[in-house]
Amino acid sequence: MKDHLYLFLFMIHFSTGCILSDENQTKEISGYTGGSVVLPCSCADPQSTAKTFTWQFHSGKQWIEVFEDKKYRGRLVLFNESSPQNLSLLISELRKEDQGYYKCMTERHSITSILLIVKGCNLVQNTKPNAVTGYAGESVVLPCSCTELLAKPEQIQWMYFVKNTYLEIYPNEKIESHKNRIKLLNQTTPGNLSLHISALTAEDQGIYYCSVSSQTVFYRLHVEHFQRLCARTLP
Ligand SMILES: *[C@@H]1O[C@H](CO)[C@@H](O)[C@H](O)[C@H]1NC(C)=O
Ligand SMILES: *[C@@H]1O[C@H](CO)[C@@H](O)[C@H](O)[C@H]1NC(C)=O
Ligand SMILES: *[C@@H]1O[C@H](CO)[C@@H](O)[C@H](O)[C@H]1NC(C)=O
Repeated sequence: MKDHLYLFLFMIHFSTGCILSDENQTKEISGYTGGSVVLPCSCADPQSTAKTFTWQFHSGKQWIEVFEDKKYRGRLVLFNESSPQNLSLLISELRKEDQGYYKCMTERHSITSILLIVKGCNLVQNTKPNAVTGYAGESVVLPCSCTELLAKPEQIQWMYFVKNTYLEIYPNEKIESHKNRIKLLNQTTPGNLSLHISALTAEDQGIYYCSVSSQTVFYRLHVEHFQRLCARTLP
């Protein structure tokens, strides 16, 4: 009799399924372009598990299953394999277009909503024209960065004005004279786009710009020979 009662209680418990801990609530979560974010979702009762659950996002017209949309391909991870009541979704390599409303829904039609905000790169703009002086034979840094240092721009380009036209020097070195002398100063901070030019020569003098989407920051680089002359006078 007692065993039957336990079984009965167990079945009631089991059949209730997963009710989400933030049912009917909307949370705001933010991330940065190029980074990743965990959209939290879990069963309120740690003993319950969701038999089925889905993650959907609002496309502007309708709700679409994230796993069925190819823009998310290779960028999604679930954690229910190792912890069945954890229904959270990890989205990596965030893009601006990932911004919007998401919902996690179980077979009980228990829903939690999340508004995902994706912060992109806006270049820090200087009000004055930028003039930088470097010394022949040495290195120089042309500063450029996103206001949010954790945001990785979807595209970055450094250009140099030569022969009446702008040619790319980063990421592709389109000018022979700049080959192997160009790199980004800091490759670990996604929003730091400052350019490092080594072994400066007189030909490097001129106009440069850093470009992200339609934003640009210009520099006039002036190369002086003082340092080299000085070095020559030393034994
Ligand atoms: C969430 O909304 C559903 C449908 O309106 C309702 O049945 C349920 O009680 C709500 N849950 C909470 C925790 O308010
Ligand atoms: C995790 O959830 C997905 C999506 O609902 C499902 O296809 C998969 O079978 C689940 N894995 C486990 C171990 O429950
Ligand atoms: C679910 O798993 C993710 C990844 O391990 C973790 O960040 C998150 O805190 C977990 N959530 C819960 C409610 O356990």
